[in-house]
Amino acid sequence: MGNGIAQVAARAGYSVVMQDVKQEFLDRALTTISSSLQRDDDKSRLSADDKEGIISRISVSIDIAAVRDSDFVIEAVPEEQGIKARALKQLDTITRPEVILASNTSSISITELAAGTSRPARFVGMHFMNPVPVMKLVEVIRGAATSNETFGVTRELAESLGKVAVEVNDWPGFISNRVLMPMINEAIFALYEGVASAESIDQIMKLGMSHPMGPLQLADFIGLDVCLAIMNVLYDGFKDSKYRPCPLLKKYVSAGWLGRKTGRGFYEY
Ligand code: CAA
Repeated sequence: MGNGIAQVAARAGYSVVMQDVKQEFLDRALTTISSSLQRDDDKSRLSADDKEGIISRISVSIDIAAVRDSDFVIEAVPEEQGIKARALKQLDTITRPEVILASNTSSISITELAAGTSRPARFVGMHFMNPVPVMKLVEVIRGAATSNETFGVTRELAESLGKVAVEVNDWPGFISNRVLMPMINEAIFALYEGVASAESIDQIMKLGMSHPMGPLQLADFIGLDVCLAIMNVLYDGFKDSKYRPCPLLKKYVSAGWLGRKTGRGFYEY
């Protein structure tokens, strides 16, 4: 997600600092950005010069201090409360107090993440969709303390990236994952119960409902670990059994079959 966000921001003309914990992650991110832009170059929607210009606006670092002078920060670390809280605490310490901190979390409470910083009024959720360069939506999530000014600046920023910003209040899974993930989880239950094969389940949703990807294909695309983490947030947050993650999803995650990124999920890649 981070590299997609960096790409759309640099393409909109912003100078971007992309920070990660290992150089190999940054190298991989730059390769992904380059091949994503190459698609547009191949289709004559971008010149080679424009492509180089966009890439030159992205600087990378494994040192978090590199984001010290940024005017707006978007956190996109793994979907785990402890990891996010630690990263946000560091960002809170090193950035100017007036800077807005945005989290690209897909379901973790914005109110709770904000409360761990010294600036809950200047904290907001900015939830991009995968693949970021293609999907138009950014869910802009108001935590309990998010100020109107923070919300407004974040919406304007999202729009300047060519996205459509949609306002949502902070409840588990927001809207996107409160609706999407139970559908994916139900498809996994149907597979688990032997109602149909993975291919049949996906075909039904693609041909019958015009979804661009079937739910199991989409789960592999999102990452099964991310799907499980989101189901757990819904289950813990609402304490309602309708959100219990399917045992098959848990088993695949335990096996390390996380979808496309590990070469195996409901399908093999
Ligand atoms: N970077 C740039 N462009 C890309 C791209 C990428 N990574 N991936 C696809 N594209 C572009 C292609 O160039 C192509 O552009 P044109 O049509 O303008 O030429 C277009 O997207 C379609 O791509 P393809 O023809 O290669 O493939 P496709 O038609 O199967 O579309 C897809 C691919 C856009 C991913 C489509 O399958 C899709 O929309 N899938 C559903 C995606 C989705 O639901 N995302 C949300 C996931 S949930 C989430 O992200 C949030 C969360 O919290 C879990």
